[in-house]
Amino acid sequence: MPAYIVMGAQWGDEGKGKIIDVLAEKMDIVIRFQGGANAGHTVIHGKTRYVTHLIPSGVISGRSINIIGNGCVVNPATLLEEMEILRQQGVHISPDKFIISPSAHMVLPIHQYLDKVLNEKIGTTVRGIGPAYTDKVQRTGIRWERACDGSFEEACREHLDFVERVYAVVEKDVIKTLRDGIPDVTKAVEKLRPFVRDARPILAEAVKNNSNILYEGAQGTFLDVDHGTYPFVTSSNTSIGGAYTGSGIFLDFNKRIAIVKSYTTRVGEGPFPTELFDETGETLRRHGNEFGATTGRPRRCGWLDLALLKESCMINGFNYIVFSKVSCLSGIETLKVAVDYHSDGSPVYQELPGWEEDILGYTEYEALPANCRRYIEFTEDFLGVPVGMVSTGPDRDHVIERQPIFR
Ligand code: IMO
Ligand code: MG
Repeated sequence: MPAYIVMGAQWGDEGKGKIIDVLAEKMDIVIRFQGGANAGHTVIHGKTRYVTHLIPSGVISGRSINIIGNGCVVNPATLLEEMEILRQQGVHISPDKFIISPSAHMVLPIHQYLDKVLNEKIGTTVRGIGPAYTDKVQRTGIRWERACDGSFEEACREHLDFVERVYAVVEKDVIKTLRDGIPDVTKAVEKLRPFVRDARPILAEAVKNNSNILYEGAQGTFLDVDHGTYPFVTSSNTSIGGAYTGSGIFLDFNKRIAIVKSYTTRVGEGPFPTELFDETGETLRRHGNEFGATTGRPRRCGWLDLALLKESCMINGFNYIVFSKVSCLSGIETLKVAVDYHSDGSPVYQELPGWEEDILGYTEYEALPANCRRYIEFTEDFLGVPVGMVSTGPDRDHVIERQPIFR
């Protein structure tokens, strides 16, 4: 059965958007199963640059049914904004092709507020993601089904009563402003009501019919709330387990695709053993344009950490690697990759010779400089997973396909 799942193998921003877009074109169903608008997936088609945060990338080609699964958290106002921007770029979004699960949770202005005042030490995207999942798990959240049964305003008022009782950090005038804002949020929710419906039967039917299904991961494995660098993580399961709880059906993914950036980046706080604080780190940031698509923050940059990626492969059972942004390594004389850690947690590096040539947009594997091929092959040997595809630039044609991605 042709079911694909694409996941970030590191700390997010691996270049998932581009490959998801390439796959999405052939899909019958594309589904987001976790996270919210903390993601930022950039897709470039010719001269047009699309950025999606929550809407599955399948909307761009317009062929597939696109689902926001129950594992996601959805802010009505920002979702409408995202839909509007895409519409202005010519993307058509209608209820027959776009579905929000009634069991997905709402992200409301109070969640954004709490994210700002409570989560500074994590360096979140301030999209309200953590507080929305907190509400979900403590059973005080508002699910999208409330958009359909006429009880949304009441749910908001009750929720703010709860917040007022529990959170001393929220000042009285803030609560008042939020209460006054309920009619606006309600308007946004009303506009989205036509999109809310149970997606599980549609998915189950698609599995039965052997349709092409793509699970679009957001963030990266080490931002997973269980398997990541806790507490410096996001609040959802970004690894493969999240695909099941976040969509509500079982299916056997026959392609478990890891997006691996050919160096490492991280946004926000938290451990990063191979981080570079020198010129080379600056070079990577410049070459890779490493600034957040969601927040604009400069990303922390460092060497490829194969020891970490080994764990990622174990967790997710990857059987295909897309190695991204390889062209950003050109001009670095000696490359280092972490293959283990010392007892103090610092990386054990292996050095590999770099290459000078600009390889932007290359499409033939054999045309790559020998040292570049060596770097790629070292990675796949170390991880024991084939590098099926190499991305050599931001455009969708900038790829080398070593192993067919479609079967
Ligand atoms: P994509 O899908 C990179 C990071 C934040 C912060 C931590 C928690 O573009 O790869 P949150 O707002 O989720 O509570 O923040 O997770 N983070 C990401 N970093 N790419 C992302 O998504 C991210 N989504 C969240 O920077 O450190
Ligand atoms: Mg991002």
